[in-house]
Amino acid sequence: MKKRVLSTRGILPGRGLDRLSEAVEVVACPGTGKPAAADLAALASGVSGVLALGNDLADAALMDAAGSSLRVVSLASMGYDNVDRSAAAERGIVVTHTPGVLAETTADLTFALILAARRRLGAAAASLASGSWEVFRMHDHLGLDVHGATLGLIGYGQIGRAVARRAHGFGMRVIHHDPYAPDDDLSAPVDLATLLAESDIVSLHVPLTEDTRHLISAGELAAMKPTATLVSTSRGGVVDETALLHAVREGRLHSAGLDVFEREPMGAELSPLVSEPHVVTLPHIGSATEATRAAMVDLAVDNILDVLAERPARTPLPGGPAVPRARTTTEARA
Ligand code: DGY
Repeated sequence: MKKRVLSTRGILPGRGLDRLSEAVEVVACPGTGKPAAADLAALASGVSGVLALGNDLADAALMDAAGSSLRVVSLASMGYDNVDRSAAAERGIVVTHTPGVLAETTADLTFALILAARRRLGAAAASLASGSWEVFRMHDHLGLDVHGATLGLIGYGQIGRAVARRAHGFGMRVIHHDPYAPDDDLSAPVDLATLLAESDIVSLHVPLTEDTRHLISAGELAAMKPTATLVSTSRGGVVDETALLHAVREGRLHSAGLDVFEREPMGAELSPLVSEPHVVTLPHIGSATEATRAAMVDLAVDNILDVLAERPARTPLPGGPAVPRARTTTEARA
């Protein structure tokens, strides 16, 4: 009998889901919306794997709903703040994510946000579309230069480094703060206070953890130049959005470019940041190109197929196991 795998979505980019269906029985959540936790739990019983997205909650309740057959929770995302890692560890479940396939695409989007926020592209495009371009004036739509500016990267992993490479094409000085990253010749390591004080653009590339939650709050915003731009393509919770809103409204920060928010998705209940003229906002599209999203699903599927075939997962979470722990007889009976 084929093993069963729960996919939190019935439609995903690329051919990954088809490949998965050739090997296992895929139980997919119906519809195209974000599935409710109760619906996922109802479908999970007896599955050996769960294929989930970065904003689907993979908690102890879902793992318990699957039961002792569950071997792998595979995320089609680089971020993994949606997974209860301790619950997975207690149950011997492997958790995987998708590094290595989305850094370049997310770095492209980071640069789009940097340019859009510094040059105020959203406000300029809206003004054109509103029919109010009657005359060319030297003082309209003035922004701040990106070329030659100092870029400060908080988090210097795959995405941070890909942003640094692009920044050199713009003649930027690049500095970074990341106690864990190896040095290279693209960027100079500095402490956080120096980065905040010297950067014209601060771009966030850290995962959301208990250590990074509200890493950028009122104090950090006050330490930035009033002409600076804050950009985030990491996770919403890294920035205290209320503090950011005040800083931008009060002119203590030039601008911000955000692809991620504390509350996602937003639906019609928009964050006030969305309508701020100096803030460019996008609906979490950092990795959203056809090729990259397909590659993410492919890697997530490969991780499931590996674990279910008793091979080590290709990309387990940092510090996490690549093979599931054998269940004790009592666990297996549960
Ligand atoms: C990621 O890969 O973490 C992206 O943010 C999509 O979830």
